[in-house]
Parts: sequence; C-alpha cells; structure tokens
Amino acid sequence: MKILGIAGSTRKEDQSGVYKLVEATLKATNMDYELVHLRGKKIGGCIACLGCVEDNVCVLKDDMAELREKIVEADAYVIGAPNYYSTMNAITHALLERFYQFRHREGDTLWGKLGVAVGVGGSSGAVCTTEIERFFMYNFIETVAKVDGQHAASCFICGYGETCGVGAVRMLLGEGVKITAENTPSVAKNPALMEEAKNAGVALAARLMDNHDRRAVTERMQATLMAEFAKTT
Ligand SMILES: Cc1cc2nc3c(=O)[nH]c(=O)nc-3n(C[C@H](O)[C@H](O)[C@H](O)COP(=O)(O)O)c2cc1C
Repeated sequence: MKILGIAGSTRKEDQSGVYKLVEATLKATNMDYELVHLRGKKIGGCIACLGCVEDNVCVLKDDMAELREKIVEADAYVIGAPNYYSTMNAITHALLERFYQFRHREGDTLWGKLGVAVGVGGSSGAVCTTEIERFFMYNFIETVAKVDGQHAASCFICGYGETCGVGAVRMLLGEGVKITAENTPSVAKNPALMEEAKNAGVALAARLMDNHDRRAVTERMQATLMAEFAKTT
C-alpha cells in the first residue's frame, strides 16, 4: 500500500501551510508514502485535445508525465491546495484537470481509491477542500477526511503589510497593527488543526487496512456523482 501526497503550494516547504498539513497527514498514516511538492513544476491544464482517448495517457509534455506513474501506483492520495482568490490555485487545478486522461472508455485506474483533501488560506482553505473533494468524486475517489486551515498570507512577509491599505494584514487585523510572531497565522501554531491533520492520516490508514474494497467504494461514489449530477439537470 502506498499513499501519494501532493502539496500544491508554490512557496518553499518551510513557508507553506499546505505542505505542513499534507506532510503531517501522511506521517500520521504510518504507511509507505511519497510527498510531491508542485513548487517549481510546470503543469498546464487539460487542453481537451483528446490525445488520451485511446490509451488514457496524456500526450502533453510537461511535469505531469513523471507524476502520472506515481498517481497510477498509489492506493490513496493526500492532495492539498492553497486558496488563491477564493478558489484553489492554478497549478493544483491544472494537475487535477489532467486526471481527465484516466477516465476514457471506463478507465478504472483511479476508481475506488481513497483521498484526503487539504486546503489552506490566508483566511480559510475550505473552498479548496470542497473543490478537491469534487475532483475526487468525478474520479470515484472517496474523500475520507478534509482538513482546512489558516496560514500567513504573503502580506505578512512582503515588507509593506503593516501600511498597505488593501492587504491581508489590514483585512484580518485592522489598521495600524504591527506584525508579530503571535498575530501571524500559522498552521504549525494551531495544535487543534495539526491534530485534525493527524486524525485524517490515521483515518485514511484505517480505511486502507480494513479490507479496502475498491469496487464497493466505486459503486458508492458513482451513486454520489449521479445524485449530484441529477441536482444540476
Ligand atoms: C495570488 C494569491 C491570492 C490569494 N487569495 C487568497 C484568498 O482569496 N483567500 C485567502 O484566504 N487567502 C488567499 N491567499 C493567501 C494564501 O492562501 C495563503 O498565503 C496560504 O498560506 C497559501 O498556502 P501555502 O502557505 O501552502 O503556500 C492568496 C495568496 C496569493 C499568492
């Protein structure tokens, strides 16, 4: 059993809230895992060329190619994204769009696998976990847990955060407030949130070790998708 973690942050590991939460979730599984950080990777969105229809392999030449094998081999995923403009950031969205390559002609590569969705924002990461869960559902991947939290927006370190009238510091703390270690949001400083990440990892491992029946999960997720689809038509 192997779990693939994907941290969709564009910031360095030590600055990223997403990276920390994805890593904490993976570690808590106590299982074999790999954590891929999307920082610096070049992954474009799906261009609907249908080059993947015959063999379910994307023909685009970018960093998604090396990730593809890891996605195929993994039994479960922990995918995290930062909140940019109240939606998940572009590279994580692009990565998840490219899961389109797996689905043609009832391709079942991802069906019945399990996932944890992680989201982080300067105020909240909940929009990201909702979106990741939706992408999981389209691929019949069941979301075992969602973890979302608050971390420092770049305005806390840009150098102008204390005086900028429209930045995150002003929005979150008010006018004229000095930035301190205490008032700078950090997932690492939030024990309840870190505990949530650990619990998500433990729950994921428990599901994987408990005679994980991919066919049953697939059937449940297919029913969920059809029910969601019916609401929109
Ligand atoms: C372009 C951009 C847009 C952002 N928009 C939002 C937003 O709409 N809401 C929010 O809560 N945080 C927003 N943020 C703040 C990030 O979500 C926050 O810094 C988060 O910690 C990023 O995740 P990371 O630390 O893993 O990189 C934005 C950051 C950037 C760079």
